[in-house]
Amino acid sequence: MEREKWPSRWSFVFAAIGSAIGLGNVWRFPYSCYKYGGGAFLIPYFVALLTAGIPLMILELSIGQKMRLSAPMAFTKINKKWGWVGWFAIFLSLGIVIYYTVVMAWCLVYLIHSFTLAWGDNASEFFIHDFLGLSSGPGDLGGVSIPIVIALAISWLMIYFIICKGVQRVGKVVYITVPLPIILLIILFIRGATLTGAGNGIEYYLKPDFDALTDSDVWLGAYAQIFFTLSLASGIMIAYASYQPKKSDIANNGIIISLANCGTSFFAGFAVFSVLGYLAYSEGVAVGELKGVGGPGLAFIAYPTAISMLPTAAKLVGIIFFLLLISLAIDSAFSMVEAFASGISDAGVKQSRAVKYTCLSGFLVGIIFCTGAGYYWLDIVDTFLNEFGLVLVGVLECIIVGYILGTWKVRKYVNKVSEFEIGKLWDVCIKYITPVILGIVILDNLYQRGKGYEDYPTWALITGGWFLIFALLIVAFILNRRYRKWD
Ligand code: PHE
Repeated sequence: MEREKWPSRWSFVFAAIGSAIGLGNVWRFPYSCYKYGGGAFLIPYFVALLTAGIPLMILELSIGQKMRLSAPMAFTKINKKWGWVGWFAIFLSLGIVIYYTVVMAWCLVYLIHSFTLAWGDNASEFFIHDFLGLSSGPGDLGGVSIPIVIALAISWLMIYFIICKGVQRVGKVVYITVPLPIILLIILFIRGATLTGAGNGIEYYLKPDFDALTDSDVWLGAYAQIFFTLSLASGIMIAYASYQPKKSDIANNGIIISLANCGTSFFAGFAVFSVLGYLAYSEGVAVGELKGVGGPGLAFIAYPTAISMLPTAAKLVGIIFFLLLISLAIDSAFSMVEAFASGISDAGVKQSRAVKYTCLSGFLVGIIFCTGAGYYWLDIVDTFLNEFGLVLVGVLECIIVGYILGTWKVRKYVNKVSEFEIGKLWDVCIKYITPVILGIVILDNLYQRGKGYEDYPTWALITGGWFLIFALLIVAFILNRRYRKWD
């Protein structure tokens, strides 16, 4: 049967941009900037974009487009021994989307709370106690939050209806889900820039601290962020590119997708840091001393706190902010489901069944994250899947293309179909620069995590972290053995 195709080139480019631009841009990026001292983060971030982000984006787009298969079967076709890398990648997508949709559900509930500014003047208390019903630790599950479960069901239903008819419908939906958040972001930027103290926030964001460049953590943080934000190493770009006609451009598309995404992050930084500047001004502290800005607290504590202090249009700003997060998250979420569902449908499961069962099981497993201990588990799973999972797949992709398939073959194909040619520097990145840097990222993480993780007990890290990663790897090996025969 002829493989489905995108309705047009721009449908594909928009869908890929929509996948890349997500919660990572408005929440994870500013939070990483904040954590690593503002301006100090931007230089490593753009270096990581050039040396790992763009080269890997081009690599993934060419594998998908050339093989016209999603990740598991594409890697099996390159070399039967390595198909598990593709399986592992799509299981990472499934794992990430299960908690990603929970954060989306939080945004839906907060959207409704914005109409009444329900968090009052203590957003942190509201988030932790009233909203999450946070338990005493990962071992104490507490109750299930019904509003969050309902919002989770709504999120999954939206995802299901968008992708159940294949990429034809996705290709149309992204004409709304990509421009809408950008318009909302511009509105928030204008509101933020006109607040007192905004300038201090932006200064903190942009002022480079060259001393921080010698700190390896900053570099590692930047590489990990580039992976997450560009939706790399999760089978998504391979699956999306597999619906492209074989002669489509690769190099230019890859650069457009990467720059559009990172440009949006850079812009979002202005919108968020201007509000942080205002928050610091209102609380009479320096921007670098704000509390609760790292992690999810940025979207659900710091931002709501600032919103309730606004002199005018507070509710409207709240509504726009949470609509922004939902419209950012939805196209990233369905891209992950699509990567997984198209992976199993290439192995022989009917596409419509694959989508239905993926959505249903994603929803059911996600309920774990709606319990009182859900927040802890979400944090643990998020850390491990990103820091180890995605980065590991990235290294393996470089090894497979660099040393088994041959970078020159891929480059020849890219240069034949693309609007401009990529040079030998690309080979150097894939064979040497990217895998070496990512290897260091993994080793450093192993070292850091090996020392323990102050927030959580070891048994929780073993179950939600190490065990999860190994279980997914084992499932990937088993599926690879089974479908090697099938092939
Ligand atoms: N890129 C998306 C974001 O920035 C999230 C994502 C990560 C999607 C990994 C797929 C894989 O929010």
